[in-house]
Amino acid sequence: LSRESFPKGFVFGTATSAYQVEGMADKDGRGPSIWDVFLKIPGLEVNNSTGEVTVDQYHRYKEDIDLMAKLNFDAYRFSISWSRIFPNGTGKVNWKGVAYYNRLINYMLKRGITPYANLNHYDLPQALQDRYMGWLSPKVVKDFADYADFCFKTFGDRVKNWMTFNEPRVVAALGYDDGFFAPGRCSKAFGNCTAGNSATEPYIVAHNLILCHAAAVQRYRGKYQKKEKGRIGILLDFVWYEPLTRSKADNYAAQRARDFHVGWFIHPLVYGEYPRTMQEIVGDRLPKFTKEEVKMVKGSMDYVGINQYTTYYMYDPHRKTKPKDQGYQQDWNAGFAYERKGVPIGPRAYSYWLYNVPWGLYKAVMYIKERYGNPTIILAENGMDDPGNLTLPKGLHDTTRINYYRSYLTELKKTVDEGANVIGYFAWSLLDNFEWRLGYTSRFGIVYVDFKTLKRYPKMSAYWFKQLLRRNKH
Ligand code: GCO
Repeated sequence: LSRESFPKGFVFGTATSAYQVEGMADKDGRGPSIWDVFLKIPGLEVNNSTGEVTVDQYHRYKEDIDLMAKLNFDAYRFSISWSRIFPNGTGKVNWKGVAYYNRLINYMLKRGITPYANLNHYDLPQALQDRYMGWLSPKVVKDFADYADFCFKTFGDRVKNWMTFNEPRVVAALGYDDGFFAPGRCSKAFGNCTAGNSATEPYIVAHNLILCHAAAVQRYRGKYQKKEKGRIGILLDFVWYEPLTRSKADNYAAQRARDFHVGWFIHPLVYGEYPRTMQEIVGDRLPKFTKEEVKMVKGSMDYVGINQYTTYYMYDPHRKTKPKDQGYQQDWNAGFAYERKGVPIGPRAYSYWLYNVPWGLYKAVMYIKERYGNPTIILAENGMDDPGNLTLPKGLHDTTRINYYRSYLTELKKTVDEGANVIGYFAWSLLDNFEWRLGYTSRFGIVYVDFKTLKRYPKMSAYWFKQLLRRNKH
């Protein structure tokens, strides 16, 4: 496996998000996001960790970009913090925040690193949550489009690769169904959930996110795209769902799961409506697109980012013998499991949800290719956290991670060889950083960060990438 195993011009990068790496969360004029507020709930987060400092990329961006260049990466996928630009969500601009992203982008270009900018990675300005319940309100559509417009206008001369959202499914399901992510709403009174309605809110939120996305794309296409010659898309997480058995019922369960997971977003973007299965099952609880909205939503992506880490077994919940159940999704009418007949689907990483299943990446990409008209794809996140909370120097010997990357990239190459229109790959992540509900106990980086000194130490996997991506061959 080498750079040359992929087509000419194939882009290799690493990915991060603003809240997870920037730090300076309450400084230099940034307003709070829903994550800043959520993480203040006492005892919610492991060790009460927050992203207030994290790996301080706000000050160390040069060092980090130098590292990317040294490791032979071509691109960096980062996100812009909405409340760093508009502390109140709308209105007054925080020019210090704008200056930061200018510094970051300019330095990337100086070091030959192509910026891939994502407009929102979970961090909705708290001001909009307070003003009108954030994603639950259709008012957010115009505010998001205005924010996006400002970013296109301000950074678009240098940023040619835009993404509107990261993992809107996670926002809708974890934020409003089980309440595991900010703003922590759900109907079951468990954990730290505040009052919510899991039967309706996730669908309303997803609907508004899709409209926000489409409105931003409309602005970009209408005002900037021609002049700036850029492209715009969205980032979707896609767990591959493999039927537990060959039975028809399990196959249907797996298909329902794919529709409810990735189809929820990509189906409207490609076909202008929600998947049939969702329409049938969710019925009146599923919002409808007006004719005008269909026009705006359908075709609203130049490319799609797929975040692919893992694979689960899906089964029909009415089957007699059930596998060791990991959970049951009400509307999906499907159960999922991490193992079949006691055999895990793959080796587990540190994160409870992450099993190393490289063939799942192949199936996920080919599924998008076949079902959604072979769109331009970037594999926008892929990676693992080491089993165990590792210290130096042990944390640098990450052969498990090298194996993970090698096997997943081999599968990705197969999809390209078989005609999938994949044009880039982004590893999650360059650095160990703040992980949403695991704080600093989870390490996804190919570069180790000592969270006390914030010093960076490339792991073996970083050198593995450096070798993979060297350009001395032709
Ligand atoms: C995302 C992910 C990342 C995570 C990574 C490891 O939304 O893109 O949640 O932010 O840190 O997937 O879990």
